[in-house]
Amino acid sequence: MKRDVPYKTYLAENEIPTQWYNVRADMKNKPAPLLNPGTLEPMKAEELYPVFCEELVKQELDNDTPFFDIPQEILDFYYMYRPSPLVRAYFLEKALDTPAKIYYKFEGNNTSGSHKLNSAIAQAYYAKKQGLKGVTTETGAGQWGTALSMACAYFDLDCQVYMVKCSYEQKPFRREVMRTYGAKVTPSPSMTTQIGQKILKEHPGTTGSLGCAISEAVEVAVGSEGYRYVLGSVLSQVLLHQSVIGLEAKAAFDKLGVKPDMIIGCAGGGSNLGGLISPFMGEKLRGEADYQIIAIEPASCPSLTRGKYAYDFCDTGMVCPLAKMYTLGSDFIPSANHAGGLRYHGMSSILSQLYDDGLMEARSVEQTSVFEAATQFARVEGILPAPESSHAIRAAIDEALKCKETGEEKTILFGLTGTGYFDLVAYEKYNEGSMSDYIPTDADLEKSLSKLPKVDK
Ligand SMILES: Cc1ncc(COP(=O)(O)O)c(C=O)c1O
Repeated sequence: MKRDVPYKTYLAENEIPTQWYNVRADMKNKPAPLLNPGTLEPMKAEELYPVFCEELVKQELDNDTPFFDIPQEILDFYYMYRPSPLVRAYFLEKALDTPAKIYYKFEGNNTSGSHKLNSAIAQAYYAKKQGLKGVTTETGAGQWGTALSMACAYFDLDCQVYMVKCSYEQKPFRREVMRTYGAKVTPSPSMTTQIGQKILKEHPGTTGSLGCAISEAVEVAVGSEGYRYVLGSVLSQVLLHQSVIGLEAKAAFDKLGVKPDMIIGCAGGGSNLGGLISPFMGEKLRGEADYQIIAIEPASCPSLTRGKYAYDFCDTGMVCPLAKMYTLGSDFIPSANHAGGLRYHGMSSILSQLYDDGLMEARSVEQTSVFEAATQFARVEGILPAPESSHAIRAAIDEALKCKETGEEKTILFGLTGTGYFDLVAYEKYNEGSMSDYIPTDADLEKSLSKLPKVDK
């Protein structure tokens, strides 16, 4: 096979970024501030300190500082599994017979199996530095909970995870990994919190959602001395930590003398996509380069493509601050699709603003076509992809096939966020032909959208 560039490009250890990049610094229209749900005024740092670690609150509220130094302890941990490779998908290109050049940035090469470790280790570090006993969190697919349990074990912190019930049941082995790293894992909604009891009363038999699990984790953190809540996506601080993905990808491309035309990522709460695109979007915002950027979401939970850009609660229990974002309504509970990490009702306020400003696009894809792409990819590139990541694979394949029709030699980069070894129940359903594609009707969406809080901002 003729190869223009190596199959895998790794940075040297001393080329791994030592600062995170904050794309908000280059945004003309800043993401809208978090609001206090009582007063509807922008949240002040002091109001957030009881919920989040102090240093993370500062990162959350900082729209202006372009670069943050990555503390040495976090870098030391990054060296265990970073850099991640930038891979040229020669075998996929050949199978598709496309003139497109396809690259992926593979973040699944660590025990947690996904990109989530990049922010987990940062959040655990700041919790430890503040002298906390432990943290609480939610997890959907289980990758974030796994990553956080690893990070907490490393810094000797207690870790309590509320895991969305359908994932808890579908992925018992994911749960055991978390417990092996010392985390306590509870299926959500649960009877262990007031909000869980309320949700179960209103929606008996619910399979849960990230929004429910967040409410439970926040309730426990706020009510327990020496604990704070940490979140694996959506928040601007998480996108900041995940910028390490994009910075590495950009440095590897620069080394190869290649510039992508198109950047594709799956979007749940927006952290991998936000991290992957950050330095490229920075160039776009500063007028230095242009890229086509595409967010891919499941048709069953289409916050960007069918949601409203409005202030909404980040959680089902309505205990968190209000965020302005593309949302399906905090009451929306998506059908039990197999990409547990893409079942969140809202989207990062940074990505929401960039999307609203027309700086990126969004598409939704159906579950069976996602698994078709996942299978095709696994058979030629060798990696068994996570269902979430496979949304990006679907779109990358579709774009490469378009290039085949037009003869264009576009360079496509997509984020391969994780591996799917704990998602074999989903693969089993696909292989048996029993996987379904549930797409919410307009009436389904209207039900939760009609309950958006009335905020005149
Ligand atoms: C492998 C993987 N990819 C993507 C996501 C989506 O999250 P985000 O949009 O924050 O990157 C998740 C979330 O759990 C995940 O586990």
